[in-house]
Amino acid sequence: MRKKVIAGNWKMNMLPNEAIDFIDKLTPLVKDTQNEVILCVPYTDLFYALLTAQNTNIKIGAQNVHWEESGAYTGEISAKMLKSIGVEYVIIGHSERRKNFFETDEIVNKKVKAALANGLKPIICVGETIEQKEAGVTKKVVTEQVKKVLDEIKEEQIENIIIAYEPIWAIGSGKTATIKDANDITKEIRDEICKIYGQKASKRVIIQYGGSVKPENCKEYLNASDIDGALVGGASLNPEIFAEIVNN
Ligand code: PGA
Repeated sequence: MRKKVIAGNWKMNMLPNEAIDFIDKLTPLVKDTQNEVILCVPYTDLFYALLTAQNTNIKIGAQNVHWEESGAYTGEISAKMLKSIGVEYVIIGHSERRKNFFETDEIVNKKVKAALANGLKPIICVGETIEQKEAGVTKKVVTEQVKKVLDEIKEEQIENIIIAYEPIWAIGSGKTATIKDANDITKEIRDEICKIYGQKASKRVIIQYGGSVKPENCKEYLNASDIDGALVGGASLNPEIFAEIVNN
């Protein structure tokens, strides 16, 4: 049985004191869950979040990483740097980064390789635009993305990655994919992994759904056969609400 993994993506929100307060409030609310709980926080919160989450079942992740280990990349943070302070996860290729910072599948792939090489677990985002959905090419678009972002990733590394299927039109919009559509696409992703890496890897890989997940709709997504968790944006900014999703 695959574990359910609920990850919060705070995006560009929360000051360190707010992060500390949030984790202090969340800790008792999720302490008995069997699910994996991750908070992906801004760089400036990482250290405080890691300290506050010590001795809890809450894991801490970043929201971006550079693919080089060090060098003349002003303003960037490497996987080695994240690992050095105890970060475990990193979101890579979120659609907001693809759109606003021109990240391509090739860049996402380089970041995934760097993360894995440094012992970080990447949460890799894929998903279609509204135009692609309306043109009926969602499956093709998403499987192409999966193939490209996993280029040269080895079978034994697959258990250290999470794929988040996030239809771009569902992010922050209040609109959601139907449970059937979300499950069909996650299954399609799993089948693609099976084609590339075989059944063992495809049965192990964690595939989340993301896009306007909230307490009112999370249960159905999390109960779907191929959906192994959720990547949660807006609803991860309140500890009580996020805990409801974790405890679904
Ligand atoms: P949302 O964001 O839950 O606010 O739609 C999801 C995400 O961006 O990962």
